[in-house]
Amino acid sequence: MPYQTLLAEKREGIVWVTVNRPEKRNALNQRVMEELDSCFREIASDAEARVAILTGAGDKAFVAGADIGELAVQSPISGRETSIRGQRTLDLIENLGKPVIAAVNGYALGGGCELAMACTLRIASENAMFGQPEVKLGIIPGYAGTQRLRRLVGEGKALELILTGEAINAQEAFRIGLVNQAVPANELKPAAEALARKILSNAPLAIKFALEAVRHGADLSHSDGEFLEAALFGACCATEDMKEGTRAFLEKREAKFAGK
Ligand code: COA
Repeated sequence: MPYQTLLAEKREGIVWVTVNRPEKRNALNQRVMEELDSCFREIASDAEARVAILTGAGDKAFVAGADIGELAVQSPISGRETSIRGQRTLDLIENLGKPVIAAVNGYALGGGCELAMACTLRIASENAMFGQPEVKLGIIPGYAGTQRLRRLVGEGKALELILTGEAINAQEAFRIGLVNQAVPANELKPAAEALARKILSNAPLAIKFALEAVRHGADLSHSDGEFLEAALFGACCATEDMKEGTRAFLEKREAKFAGK
């Protein structure tokens, strides 16, 4: 589907999704949010799309947050609805059933940081900056930043970032566990692609079940999480990929997975 504010391109199982409003630092207006929702729904239902990489157009910003022009005129009711709709779209990305890698190529502020956190993995270029500056505008994070940031970096660091509104650079984001890798700017796309290819080389159903175990397990008690893990482990044992993966190891050859 053609989009006004996104570029979406599929190559060999990897879908590159680029937020394309560089003149507005890729800020998330309603149009971008609606298109992100449609685009990720399409990726979810496309069997050929196995990993997505999300990035921003230009060399300045991944996403510089929600569109402040649109924010400025929100009423209590529309503000709440905007927050809920955004949370749903980011939940869709987080629970896509396929890995989504954020390739953070510049500012990831406010909704941009929240969008990156909804992705499965994050790689930052060395010029990336992360922050939740909402309190500087008289609001708080509204796309689940208060929840995901705490989960990723712990309550102390999350509150420091949210209460000061100050941004941190890629190295600091790496140090506190907000991103998986920090790389020179010109290595960002190759690093994201290499990570996607590593995942693609593994058993597709095992990837799906591992994502489900970690993601759904996060909302469960320890024992319910273990129960879910055991059920999914059992499901893996019913796959052709499990037979192939274990046989290939024993026969000292590369496994050829069929995703069955
Ligand atoms: N919403 C709407 N427009 C935004 C935006 C946002 N979140 N972020 C940037 N823009 C717009 C600017 O208004 C400007 O538009 P103009 O050219 O029509 O005046 C354009 O994008 C370029 O922004 P500019 O500030 O000149 O770019 P910069 O490279 O000097 O600085 C940022 C980049 C990201 C540091 C700066 O734009 C910024 O602080 N943006 C807001 C970040 C924020 O508070 N996000 C959280 C929102 S909840």
